[in-house]
Amino acid sequence: MNGIKDGVAIVTGGGSGIGRQTALRFAEEEASVVVADIDEEGGDETVELIQGDGGEATFVRTDVTDSDDVDAMVQTALDEYGGLDFAHNNAGIADEGTRLAEYDEAAWDRMIDINLKGVWRCLKAEIPEMADRGGGAIVNTSSVAGVSANGSAHYAASKHGVIGLTRRATVDYAEDGIRFNAVCPGVIDTPMVQQAGEDNTEEMERITAGIPAGRLGDPQEIASTVVWLCSEDASYVMGQPIVIDGGLLAQ
Ligand SMILES: NC(=O)c1ccc[n+]([C@@H]2O[C@H](COP(=O)([O-])OP(=O)(O)OC[C@H]3O[C@@H](n4cnc5c(N)ncnc54)[C@H](O)[C@@H]3O)[C@@H](O)[C@H]2O)c1
Repeated sequence: MNGIKDGVAIVTGGGSGIGRQTALRFAEEEASVVVADIDEEGGDETVELIQGDGGEATFVRTDVTDSDDVDAMVQTALDEYGGLDFAHNNAGIADEGTRLAEYDEAAWDRMIDINLKGVWRCLKAEIPEMADRGGGAIVNTSSVAGVSANGSAHYAASKHGVIGLTRRATVDYAEDGIRFNAVCPGVIDTPMVQQAGEDNTEEMERITAGIPAGRLGDPQEIASTVVWLCSEDASYVMGQPIVIDGGLLAQ
């Protein structure tokens, strides 16, 4: 893909699932990757996978609910690789599958703090560095729950919010040469979904049967879209939620 080689990318939630595959894909295209995750073991594993393939990567333990951690994450890109060109703000927690009146305020706060405010913290730290460098590209992970009534209300609200952030950041920072887009995955075969499947096999079979593709998505199918969105091949794609869902929402 054009324009990824020799760039510097941050991937949050890079220790597992979709984020790990994006980190691997960036490295395959010869970008240097800062793998950020609250999970040190998973993050280290991603770095080992990249280095094992001859790529360049560094892990930095980051909790996206902590502004100091997020600032240190961006600083790692500057210290290790001299700048920042791309970011995939992807760290998130799963839908809890409960109805609005069934969870308490603490569950609401946690969901919003990680899935929505976490993306805002990352944007706030990443944008000035990209602007100073003359531009960049950022992809935020939303969900089909960001554009439809899939998922529980607090999860859906957080993922709708990610699209709002993405659109407004586009308008605010287009003049600085930064492009922002969001990916909206359907049901993707990652540890997050595997856990839900183990908890309720019948429900997972029902969900799979409802996907026109007849299968779950592979995290690589999200990763390739994220890296394409960051590439010059997508130079005029700005402020868009890109749905990648095996036809789920086409119905
Ligand atoms: N798998 C799906 O079907 C699906 C569908 C739509 C959207 N998504 C979204 O995709 C993103 C990635 O999910 P996944 O399926 O790869 O899940 P995953 O659980 O495999 O990976 C999520 C990663 O985020 C990290 N993380 C969680 N809280 C964090 C925090 N506070 N700070 C830093 N890192 C944190 C976890 O440690 C984990 O490594 C999430 O935002 C999720 O909401 C997933």
